[in-house]
Amino acid sequence: MTEAAPSIFRSAGADSPDTAPPSNPCVMLVFGASGDLTKRLLVPALYNLACDGLLSTNFALLGTALDDMTTEQFRERMSADIQKFHTRKEFDAKAWEDLVGRFHYIPGGFTEMAIYEKLKAEVKRLDLEYGCAGNVLFYFAVAPKFFGTLCNNLHTSGFKEGPGWKRIIVEKPFGTDLQSALKLNEDVLAHWHEDQIYRVDHYLGKETVQNLLAFRFSNGMFEPLWNKNYIDNIQFNVSEAVDVEGRGGYYDSSGVLRDMMQNHMFQMLAYLCMEVPGSFEPDAIRNEKAKLLQSVRQYTPEEVKRFVVRGQYGPSVDATGKATKPGYRSEKDVNPKSKTETYAAARFHIDNWRWEGVPIYLRSGKALWKRGTEIIVEFKKAPAVIFRGTPVTSLGPNRLIFHIQPYQGIEIQFQAKIPGPRLNLQPVNMRFAYGDAFKASRYTGYEVMLYACSHGDATLFSRGDLVEAAWRVAQPLLDYWAKTPAEFPNYARNGWGPQAAAELIAKDGNAWHEVVTGDVLKKVPLFKDGDMLFLEQVIMALQSRQVSAGEIIIKKGEIGRELYLIARGVVEVVDDVGNVIKDLADGEIFGEIGLLMSTPRVANCRARTSCDLFVLDKADFNRILRDNPAFADAIRQVAKTRYSVNIDHALESAT
Ligand code: BG6
Repeated sequence: MTEAAPSIFRSAGADSPDTAPPSNPCVMLVFGASGDLTKRLLVPALYNLACDGLLSTNFALLGTALDDMTTEQFRERMSADIQKFHTRKEFDAKAWEDLVGRFHYIPGGFTEMAIYEKLKAEVKRLDLEYGCAGNVLFYFAVAPKFFGTLCNNLHTSGFKEGPGWKRIIVEKPFGTDLQSALKLNEDVLAHWHEDQIYRVDHYLGKETVQNLLAFRFSNGMFEPLWNKNYIDNIQFNVSEAVDVEGRGGYYDSSGVLRDMMQNHMFQMLAYLCMEVPGSFEPDAIRNEKAKLLQSVRQYTPEEVKRFVVRGQYGPSVDATGKATKPGYRSEKDVNPKSKTETYAAARFHIDNWRWEGVPIYLRSGKALWKRGTEIIVEFKKAPAVIFRGTPVTSLGPNRLIFHIQPYQGIEIQFQAKIPGPRLNLQPVNMRFAYGDAFKASRYTGYEVMLYACSHGDATLFSRGDLVEAAWRVAQPLLDYWAKTPAEFPNYARNGWGPQAAAELIAKDGNAWHEVVTGDVLKKVPLFKDGDMLFLEQVIMALQSRQVSAGEIIIKKGEIGRELYLIARGVVEVVDDVGNVIKDLADGEIFGEIGLLMSTPRVANCRARTSCDLFVLDKADFNRILRDNPAFADAIRQVAKTRYSVNIDHALESAT
């Protein structure tokens, strides 16, 4: 019988399931050691492992880069940086001193063969000094164009020889398109075996992403429903509030498809939708992931046009139309005519038995209204027929929401009967929050990667065929976009993305489920003092709507049925003859008076810019008013100061 491969899901060979052994001894040789990745993620991750007793005492790090530094200077630099980038509540100076004392440095260019002799001699010396048994972990924290050269040079200089294991960790992006990924795999595998190559995708290091597998396969109640018979659609949302943050040079030749979707999002897609593997063996999981991505339909140009939307952010503007922050094309190191997409939304098809016909939506972008990664599994609705003759006119779907970050948790949404003599329903939820159940994770995500690699556990790393399968899905989009003009910019900073994305999903009769958190809602003056229970009620009731500039949102004379909250944009209140009476901007509400008084709307409300709105309907609004006297008071104040209207009577009858 062959020995099973190590797997993080089987506690990497620990004697007891609760205690993990430390990492395997090794010298870690980091190429690009003076760069951002090393100081922001690798070193803080090693420090976390050391603090948790998970870093072998037989460990040394040898850094190399072009910067001319001595080992002493490298240690000083790392000691200054760790103060900025460590993720623990308290700094453990003793653990750090011990760790940084194991750091060494040799300056030089890795494209020249001259440096390899020096590196080899130093690795050998460190191996003896720290007792690393000949094990070497090469970390490529350098631009992808150097991966092939590095693999080749390490091979030529004889680094693979001698006792112990030799493993390579490479950072994303792995290729810039299908052709380059195929070539890169060829170059890397020319002298190394697939089981020596660990392709990092830092999303796989996130606890909430790893938990997708644990959730699916350890809970008997969901897997039977995990298919086209019960699931209506699945939405993957990775929304970033940050812009390109000075990385224009890199980003302009990348775009969101290459930067986020082809890797991080496809990894999550594979975890969520793959078949059940036979075991937690790394290759059992990786086989299923690769099979899943191979089943994602590779689009024809016609299908790209139909199922994919791209976007690029423009400037943010204030109520007078003045730009307050630049659009993408004015960012540093970005081509002023750039066609690079900073946003993409797509419907994908998984052409297999389990998922045939189920819309799989992915969207991601920069400079959006909030930071949040969520996966929303929307189940088919229950038949509403039994509710005939009751006040219930429609049923909402059940949703299972994986909150990946920054809020970490799992939520189930369903309907419950509102207490009282009549059969009325209200959407409610059950929530599991990581912070409540576990000590909040202090990790960067890289700890588990370094740890697993040292144990030869490839579960959390991408195999070559999976990377290629992901590029095969992305390539038709890249090809189509390269050939077609882009009408950019097409979404405003801090917004929800292009309206075409809302239309894309609306074509299927669906809508993006916007996950609103208490923190986001608290930015709205009306909700800022609300407790969590109240905010939760509001969140559950909000619907999202995007409108274009010039669109009439409220028409004078209509009976009000909805209250609006402006997430982003400018709405003008317009009188009969077209004069603008007032501008309303982000965080303001409108429509509350007509809604409360059930009287015809007193003015028109028109979108001056494109707007992202939250909508609360009358029944929900009344219910929230009834349960929250402080909210009723706040509404009373808005009515009084904005319209000099006394709404006490209306409030009484509503509540
Ligand atoms: C990186 C991308 O891989 O992931 C960045 O290059 C992006 O553009 C980042 O911001 C997002 O990572 P996280 O962990 O913050 O979601």
